[in-house]
Amino acid sequence: MIKGDLLYEGKAKRLYATENEDVLYVAYKDSATAFNGEKKAEIGGKGILNNKITTILFEQLKKYGIESHFIEQISENEQLVKKVEIIPLEVVVRNIAAGSLSKRLGMAEGTPLKKPIVEFYFKDDDLGDPLLTNAHLELLEIASPVEIDTLQTMALEVNQVLRPIFSDIGVTLVDFKLEFGKTTDGAILLADEISPDTCRLWDKETNKKLDKDVFRRNLGSLTEVYEIILSRLGGLSK
Ligand code: C5P
Repeated sequence: MIKGDLLYEGKAKRLYATENEDVLYVAYKDSATAFNGEKKAEIGGKGILNNKITTILFEQLKKYGIESHFIEQISENEQLVKKVEIIPLEVVVRNIAAGSLSKRLGMAEGTPLKKPIVEFYFKDDDLGDPLLTNAHLELLEIASPVEIDTLQTMALEVNQVLRPIFSDIGVTLVDFKLEFGKTTDGAILLADEISPDTCRLWDKETNKKLDKDVFRRNLGSLTEVYEIILSRLGGLSK
């Protein structure tokens, strides 16, 4: 597959065209950003770790019948994906209170939720990715009510698959963010990435943070904890 023109550069990835108009080339970058881009750093090796971890997780999800845009990993930091039009929503699933939920509702970090909850945020950097109510979702018409239902159902299914996968490697899946896209024929596919950049992952025994909070809160080496996740997922040899 030929790596063609750069189509888009985001905070963590670059997207390139290929000779097949339905396929894109994704290169994971070493950039780390937090707080809507206010905190930035280049962290050698991060792109490779997230590419490998995302590959393993999308492959696992596929085994359980959850399709994503992922086609194949083609190098240490690159993968091929199906071209989709990203729906500008960040779909967050939470099992345990942390981050913005703890702050918004005054719930102590680590409080288990009675059941997983799904939240929608408007993917818009200029607005700071605001949380959307159902009324806002209706007002904005980013997706139809049926599509919103589909996103919610798919997000909970992803949670059902990922929770035991992480639990089996001694990790609690606290929360995570998903993005979805639409193919040209209107099908909704899971897209973007699933990595310690987009999930909160705590060691089951020690509650040690094994995710991007290490960077957000200056808790130590990001690559060290991402490597723990990759190695526990059995992906170091990939
Ligand atoms: O900050 P907040 O608590 O709302 O984040 C919930 C989850 O979504 C966390 O796992 C975080 O890493 C992820 N997230 C993300 N990208 C964003 C916002 C949140 O991956 N822009």
